[in-house]
Amino acid sequence: MGVVKDYSTERLGAMEQNGLYVGRFGRKSGAYDLLQQTAQAYNQDIGVVSDFEPIDPYTHEPQDPEVATTVVNDVVFYLRTLKAPIQRNSDDAEVTAGEQVFIAVGCAKCHRPEMTTGDSPIAALAHKTFRPFTDLLLHDMGQGLDDGYTEGNATSAEWRTPALWGLGLFPDSQGGQYFLMHDGRAHSIEEAIDMHGGEAQGARDAFHALPSGERDRLMTFLQSL
Ligand code: HEC
Repeated sequence: MGVVKDYSTERLGAMEQNGLYVGRFGRKSGAYDLLQQTAQAYNQDIGVVSDFEPIDPYTHEPQDPEVATTVVNDVVFYLRTLKAPIQRNSDDAEVTAGEQVFIAVGCAKCHRPEMTTGDSPIAALAHKTFRPFTDLLLHDMGQGLDDGYTEGNATSAEWRTPALWGLGLFPDSQGGQYFLMHDGRAHSIEEAIDMHGGEAQGARDAFHALPSGERDRLMTFLQSL
């Protein structure tokens, strides 16, 4: 959760509770919608001041906007309507068996296979079932992933469950390699699972206890995403 800033345009999909918004975006769920995420990225990542984030990140002084509001809104619209990667070989028997293993060892408790959107002024986005493999929530992942870094109300060991859609395609855009977890420290899916501690310790232990055939099926499923 974070304190609400007075962003003048509509807050698509943002959920308010007692004047606070539920964080949905960013490794630590620091942003509650794509507009906030985008305005903050312009400001904090590339130092560009907008109507939404009018303070220069270097001088800490208010400054005239360097990017037009229409441009920020267009970027947000583009992000909202980007197509998610589609699973491959979803009817393959090994893949469907692997998904059952994924559920049985407890991965699906956080990496939720299915969600449905609510109302949206963009018809193509309203009431659609999609398969993100995330619950969009923060979890305490244990000491090994505690980087001593906080954002908003998140503790330093808490990270938002990342979506696993597109997981099998990652190496195609990363020089044939995996760079998984929040800082890219895991170079294979197995390594990423091994780094799960804290709330995910049980799922990691159940993964280690799998007979090799089931583990292979789980890997085939994960690579189909
Ligand atoms: C308690 C919740 C939880 C459970 C259970 C869980 N995960 Fe995760 N998973 C996370 C979080 C949070 C991260 C991100 C950690 C980080 O960024 O350091 C993550 C990261 C990953 C990643 C890396 C994704 C990326 O883009 O970097 C993979 C792959 C993954 N999990 C697979 C699994 C599998 C397979 C299981 C079951 C054996 C599992 N997870 C169980 C919460 C969970």
